[in-house]
Amino acid sequence: MSTSLTPNPKMEYRRLGSSGLRVSVLSFGSWVTFDNQLKDDTALACMQAAWDAGCNFFDNAEAYAGGESEAIMGRVISQLGWKRHHYVLSTKVFWGIDGPIPNMQNSLNRKYLHHSIEGCLDRLQVDFVDLLFCHRADPKTPIEETVWAMSDLVDRGKVLYWGTSEWSADEIRAAWEIAERHHLHKPVMEQPQYNMLERKRVETEYRRLYDDIGLGTTIWSPLASGLLTGKYLEGVPSDSRAALPGYGWLASRLTDEASLDVVRGLAPIADSLGCTLAQLALAWCTKNPHVSTVITGASRESQVHENFGALDVIPLLTDEVMTRIDEVLSR
Ligand SMILES: NC(=O)c1ccc[n+]([C@@H]2O[C@H](COP(=O)([O-])OP(=O)(O)OC[C@H]3O[C@@H](n4cnc5c(N)ncnc54)[C@H](OP(=O)(O)O)[C@@H]3O)[C@@H](O)[C@H]2O)c1
Repeated sequence: MSTSLTPNPKMEYRRLGSSGLRVSVLSFGSWVTFDNQLKDDTALACMQAAWDAGCNFFDNAEAYAGGESEAIMGRVISQLGWKRHHYVLSTKVFWGIDGPIPNMQNSLNRKYLHHSIEGCLDRLQVDFVDLLFCHRADPKTPIEETVWAMSDLVDRGKVLYWGTSEWSADEIRAAWEIAERHHLHKPVMEQPQYNMLERKRVETEYRRLYDDIGLGTTIWSPLASGLLTGKYLEGVPSDSRAALPGYGWLASRLTDEASLDVVRGLAPIADSLGCTLAQLALAWCTKNPHVSTVITGASRESQVHENFGALDVIPLLTDEVMTRIDEVLSR
């Protein structure tokens, strides 16, 4: 068990947009899984497996499991004794975890941002997070107030880089321009959903932002919550996230016939490459040069091993294979 990261020669460490920070092209996050599906011991096994595969970036959020996801990750990292300068840690704020307290819910006001970061750092057991995301846009707070507050957190050493998650291109550009005008720390990265079934925002809406402002992306749900693994072809498996209490809204999406037809169309391509559907879907995300890192999720260690095996599939995705995939996706 090494407390140092051993860079994996197969792992690409991509720049986070135009920043100088490099993140492993496959990374690991804790949405749904931590606390709901796995406790400290399995979380440790999964994070260790990702680390051993060369993963240096771990994603979290204040709202995941009401703060318990950050607490688990904090305990696991402390138990593993990883050197702080060898890993990149992120969290996200917006929803709050105190319920409907004025200022503390669904907001990016200065007071909430300055308060919430303290709880995040406490639960994660660190002095700073490398990345802090505004988890959604807040139409009720002036973007200028949020930009000043996020920039202050960087100045105060609580955060190294800040960014957004699921903001529109116009909102990201407005934030960047405010920061530019006032010589503040600019948003560096966005965390959007991106996978074979969800392409528009990353490929079309943000298109100009990559060159214009050097936006990096840490993309989420690369397997569309597991749909792209093929596990929902015969219905909802009882040990999957779609079967969890409170996730009925996901179950209907994960059993959508049109999406399942796409998965059926991809199966022969995965077979011809000798890989799994999960590996094909993850490797495909990395082929987009505007993706800085693909945040993977797993409810058990075996999935981490399979998913990081996608590193072997990336070189197999030639132009010809990408065209075959595109034909299936555009049916
Ligand atoms: N910014 C945002 O708004 C936002 C939103 C969502 C996620 N995220 C981030 O992105 C990360 C990844 O998102 P995600 O968890 O939705 O990713 P995903 O890769 O689309 O889904 C992961 C889930 O798929 C199933 N799975 C994964 N590998 C598998 C395999 N090889 N075989 C079979 N099933 C497999 C597992 O669920 P089961 O075993 O339960 O089926 C696993 O938890 C999150 O952890 C979080 O850090 C951010």
